[in-house]
Amino acid sequence: MPGESRIDPALRHFLTLRDLAPGELDDLLELGHRLSEGEVPPRPLEGRSVALVFQKSSTRTRVSFEVGVHRLGGKGIFLSDRDSQIGRGEPLSDTARVLSTYVDGIMIRTFGHDKLEELARHSRVPVMNGLTDRFHPCQLLADLLTLRQNFGASALPGLRVAWFGDGNNMANSWLLAAGLLGFELRLAVPEGYDPDGEALAWAGERTRIVLTRDPEEAAEEVHVLTTDVWASMGQEEEAAQREADFASFQVNERLAERARDDHIFLHCLPAHRGEEVTAQVMDGPHSRIFQEAENRLHAQMALMIHLFRTADG
Ligand code: CP
Ligand code: NVA
Repeated sequence: MPGESRIDPALRHFLTLRDLAPGELDDLLELGHRLSEGEVPPRPLEGRSVALVFQKSSTRTRVSFEVGVHRLGGKGIFLSDRDSQIGRGEPLSDTARVLSTYVDGIMIRTFGHDKLEELARHSRVPVMNGLTDRFHPCQLLADLLTLRQNFGASALPGLRVAWFGDGNNMANSWLLAAGLLGFELRLAVPEGYDPDGEALAWAGERTRIVLTRDPEEAAEEVHVLTTDVWASMGQEEEAAQREADFASFQVNERLAERARDDHIFLHCLPAHRGEEVTAQVMDGPHSRIFQEAENRLHAQMALMIHLFRTADG
């Protein structure tokens, strides 16, 4: 099954959105919302540490996790490939076993989703997915919180969301979110770039999923327009080919005119203005990209409060 954890069930990990218990996603978004409004968080990480492992670049994920861990009373320890033994080939299984003896949680951004699962299998502390090639669940927590703030909590199942471009880690995560919450998801993706087949099938059994090659059809009367870079981290050499293949999937004002008048535009960032989205849309009145980015902090704090409270029993 897509995103299914193969881990000790007594230990809470967050490898995909499906690791949240039924109802927990709603609770977590509610808590994230209250934190965004200034509620003082508890300090479940008092005297504890969380390793923040990055095998790819990051601005938002790194800083929001470091700040979030700090606000919850703990210490974040940043590790990159460049200055840890992971970059010199030490297996993630050994790394997980060693880190588990020092820290109380591990966040990792890596390439293959199997690498994340390997780390989680060998970890004795909660592992959080800070992005893999297959899923980016922390980003979706922030995106869903942004939807909640703009449309209201009860409106979420009735929304129509349109995704444009690559069937990548973000598209796959949107599929799991749609399956969990029941909103309609339309994916306008060129041939050859379809999302993960298992995630597509899983979500398709639970809600209305439309996969189309026609961006205009996808945009019709939707509440949300969203996209991502055409070449993700690790795909830099394919950039020219992708630019050609995705050219007609750009989110621009002409496309946005088809959406509802009260639609919002989301992008996980970083973005390339003039490629997957125009500057007019990015910086226009419907854009919520900076609210979305801020929500990374609130949503991840809510996540850690849930994980570390549960880890305490
Ligand atoms: N959206 C996101 O994950 O951004 P970073 O790559 O800057 O962490
Ligand atoms: N799809 C992008 C998301 C970056 C936050 C990537 O994987 O590079």
